[in-house]
Amino acid sequence: MSEWPSTLPPFLWGVASSSHQVEGRQPGNDWLSWEEAGRTRGRSDDHIDHWTRYREDVALYREMGANASRISLEWSRLEPEPGRWDDDAFDHYADMLDATRAQGLEPLVTISHFTLPLFVAEAGGWLWEGMEEAFLRLTEKVVQRFSQVRLWCTINEPTVLPLMGYEEGVWPPGQRSLRVGLRVLSREIAIHERAYRLIKSIEPAALVGLAHHVVRFRPLVNTPAHRALAAFLHRTFNAWTIDHTKEVQDFIGLNYYSCRWATFRRPVNPFPNRRGVPLTQMGWEIDPEGLFDLAAWAARYGRPILITENGIATDDEDERARYIKSHVGALRRAAAGGADVRGYFYWSGLDNFEWAEGYRPHFGLAAVAPDGTRTIKAGAAALREEAAAGFALTDGRGGVS
Ligand code: BGC
Repeated sequence: MSEWPSTLPPFLWGVASSSHQVEGRQPGNDWLSWEEAGRTRGRSDDHIDHWTRYREDVALYREMGANASRISLEWSRLEPEPGRWDDDAFDHYADMLDATRAQGLEPLVTISHFTLPLFVAEAGGWLWEGMEEAFLRLTEKVVQRFSQVRLWCTINEPTVLPLMGYEEGVWPPGQRSLRVGLRVLSREIAIHERAYRLIKSIEPAALVGLAHHVVRFRPLVNTPAHRALAAFLHRTFNAWTIDHTKEVQDFIGLNYYSCRWATFRRPVNPFPNRRGVPLTQMGWEIDPEGLFDLAAWAARYGRPILITENGIATDDEDERARYIKSHVGALRRAAAGGADVRGYFYWSGLDNFEWAEGYRPHFGLAAVAPDGTRTIKAGAAALREEAAAGFALTDGRGGVS
């Protein structure tokens, strides 16, 4: 049954980010080593420095019309060495969360957003036999300490991490094996399940879920075989993870950006784009209808739906505004059709470090100059306007918040 506590805003208009992508001053983690090894387009640095400028940033998010902020915790700060917990880092995050709430923003906190402490990575990362226990120890510590958090996400994109890091090898640890990738995915699911139960035992009222990356798969050619392939990709990439975690998710968190075309033509790349359509700086096609489809589909799980990420990398602010409006519009239609949509988090509040792509893609609602100065972009007005218009919830109650 879908339940949304009356203590939370009826609809969350958020911005999303993750620790490694904005904080700067990273103490050392697997991504920093990956960057040092030259595996990314340039290295992450301290110019954004959200770690010290978070007060300014949460004020900025508020100005953008948000009433929620999704962040992640940097495990390597909290536990720099096995079993050694850094109290200052815990205090720092507690301040950050207090500042977030003081701006009227509801925090949604991800425990693991791609990065790992070096001691975990060196022991074998997600395949390390001690991973489950280590993750649960971290979970217990953070949930006990950050009691101001009512929305937890255990793991960001449990399918993307094994795909990029263990199957395609373009993210750490750089392995290339589908079999190993699938082992990582099942390990993440097992960890999520235990972490979910642990969090609920400490904070029964907290809502706990995943942020699951979903793609709209479309048949490149309208033949039964292509339609069947698109349906198969949907079942494996989108549905499988939720099907295997639906009993341990209080909300269905979806990260949606784009569609992919199902074709038999290029077996090396099951997710090609069409030729000749405009693409974002990430090389992704813009397909708001996909968000409608996937939100309407996710309603079958009977849980509140949060769009935990959606956004565009562009320097064209009209394009950004159109992207936001068309995707929120698609969500409004899904809600009108019965989907219990409770939140939309734009990725991202600030331009940030886009993993292997470095700082080049510009997803932010605010630009960050080399000296750290933030400037809200014109496209950000779209989020503010959508939030001001409110969101009509499925049961007819107005979600103006
Ligand atoms: C990830 C973010 C990333 C964004 C844009 C998501 O896959 O969770 O960390 O920056 O997409 O690529």
